[in-house]
Amino acid sequence: MINIALPKGRLGEKVYRLFESSGYEFPGILENSRKLVFVNEALNMRCFWVKPFDVPVYVERGTADIGAAGKDILMERNPDVYELLDLKAGICRMSAASLNGFVDDNEKTLRVATEFPNIAKNYYSGLGRDIDIIELRGSLELAPVLGLSDVIVDIVETGTTLRENNLTVISDIAELSARLIANKSAYKFKNDEINEIIRRLGKNVNKIN
Ligand code: PRP
Repeated sequence: MINIALPKGRLGEKVYRLFESSGYEFPGILENSRKLVFVNEALNMRCFWVKPFDVPVYVERGTADIGAAGKDILMERNPDVYELLDLKAGICRMSAASLNGFVDDNEKTLRVATEFPNIAKNYYSGLGRDIDIIELRGSLELAPVLGLSDVIVDIVETGTTLRENNLTVISDIAELSARLIANKSAYKFKNDEINEIIRRLGKNVNKIN
């Protein structure tokens, strides 16, 4: 049986539609219920919803053979898995942003608010910039507006949230989208099945998104 971890939420629904259009259907999975596990006996596949941040954990430990995870989460957690396919869903960027007109003073430690401390640390250490990480859970835009931080490292999609809060991108850190990942030993022992999934999804990625 192939076990698939999908991220619960909007991105996961998009990814599921890609699976569905590629012949992998799990009836009832998009119905608004609290059910988390769906089996398709004919396909010999099981699909489950997990919190987006947890997808790499299920895949790395082999509870899921494959999964779909945002590149942001993969960069942040750096799991020991294979990244096999860009699913081209949820395309956005990881960027650093500040209030309009902010001027960085290199003499001072830069206060960085983020939900992605490892991404921020790696980025600024590459620049040799001293930073103080302020870890928050969402609505990061508030931090510079209220003076809690100098900059934020966050996901930017349309740029609307930044604009409406008088903020602007100062640098782009990475391009993001959902990626298909696989457990390393599952990829070895279920190679034919997983490669067939990659082949079918790969044919449809550009049609769906
Ligand atoms: C994300 C991100 C930004 C916003 C960017 O937040 O953290 O706040 O989307 O999108 P935009 O560029 O299209 O405005 P999300 O809505 O996922 O919620 P969160 O703030 O709770 O993380």
